[in-house]
Amino acid sequence: MERIIAGIDVGSTKICTLIGRVSDSGPLNVIGMGVVPSRGVRRGVITDIEVASRSIEESVRKAQNMAHYTISEAYLGISGSHIASQNSRGAVSIGRGDRPVDREDIQRVLEDAEAIAVPHNRRILHTIPREYIIDGQEGIKNPIGLMGFRLEVEAHIVTGSTTCIQNLEQCVERNQIRVVDSVFQPLASALAVLTEEEGRMGVVLIDMGGGTTDLATYMDSSVWETMVFDVGGNHISNDIAVMLRTPFAAAEEAKIRYSHALPMEVDEAEMIELSAFGHDGLATVARRELCEIVEARVEEMFGIIARDIRRSGYEDLVPAGIVLTGGTSDLRGIRDGASRALQMPVRIGVPHRMHGVVEAVSNPAYATAVGLLLWGMKAAADKDEVPLVQHPRTFYEMVKAMFKRLVP
Ligand SMILES: Nc1ncnc2c1ncn2[C@@H]1O[C@H](COP(=O)(O)OP(=O)(O)OP(=O)(O)O)[C@@H](O)[C@H]1O
Ligand SMILES: [Mg+2]
Repeated sequence: MERIIAGIDVGSTKICTLIGRVSDSGPLNVIGMGVVPSRGVRRGVITDIEVASRSIEESVRKAQNMAHYTISEAYLGISGSHIASQNSRGAVSIGRGDRPVDREDIQRVLEDAEAIAVPHNRRILHTIPREYIIDGQEGIKNPIGLMGFRLEVEAHIVTGSTTCIQNLEQCVERNQIRVVDSVFQPLASALAVLTEEEGRMGVVLIDMGGGTTDLATYMDSSVWETMVFDVGGNHISNDIAVMLRTPFAAAEEAKIRYSHALPMEVDEAEMIELSAFGHDGLATVARRELCEIVEARVEEMFGIIARDIRRSGYEDLVPAGIVLTGGTSDLRGIRDGASRALQMPVRIGVPHRMHGVVEAVSNPAYATAVGLLLWGMKAAADKDEVPLVQHPRTFYEMVKAMFKRLVP
């Protein structure tokens, strides 16, 4: 059966709507894409509902025109510093050891894990099982069919501010589009860029966008930790604007055109011209000076991230290192800059394994939007009980197969 799935990524710099066509067994075929500058949004939080709704409408309309399809529902990417996460354990009794664990037990144990102190002004976005424990036996990925007395789960719970989530959902729903699910952005990005091997070995996904940087740690093919940092590419542009006294738009342009996270890589003598505040509206500066401003901010951002990775204690448990994605991962030299600051191997994650307008979406800035479609595919497949993928090869396929076995 063919399905149409839509994803809307409301980022701090751009809103991206993707429309995908999928069949039960086939790959994702991206048939519509609409990207517009983000307005009425600041660091993942709606600051003007009218303006944000209109930006979303414009992005959706562009994608619909390209796909020749009108969407009525979509998966929505969500981020911002209001998002928090924690690990929690749930436990239920199965009975007298005379029956196997069924889907209802899984539901009950996940609900028990959710019975944490969540204030009324916060909503649970995701409850992700990391591992199950039956009668003390740890490390069970799929407990269904196993006998036991007591079922426990280690789950990762992601929550967000109820009002921030509602405001964002409202912006989409005002356009007659139902939000099927609000998905924490790095979890979507991970589906689009990680490989199965990385997810199993242990990897940290870092989505560095314009206003926020989202992080998700995977080990043993499960999510172990998620974080949001209030830093991103806009901070780099802002530093350039302040230090070189240029308007923000000129700083942004210069960043994309000339900057490098490793100043030593650019010619010391090279001079560049940019528009600046002041009498004649133009300034000539050494390109290396611009790069030094960029380097300082990149070092600071990764310094903050490194500190928190170290604090979480997962530093030595992620042999696959870092996969960096999001628009800022396009910055020249950032891979080496990140690797130096984090003391880990780093690769740039580009969305893969899809057909359609591949050229356009094969860019780290679209990892979240592509991931939202993959998330939708996974959810739809779970609902329809499509046969299990026998030999999953990508991270996405593996998570999909795992999800299928675990969730009713
Ligand atoms: N070639 C490039 N070099 C340097 N920076 C770049 C390049 N291309 C894009 N960027 C930066 O990437 C950032 C936008 O990234 P992205 O599109 O992932 O953000 P977003 O999803 O809108 O925001 P967020 O995820 O923070 O809410 C901007 O700061 C932009 O300047
Ligand atoms: Mg983003």
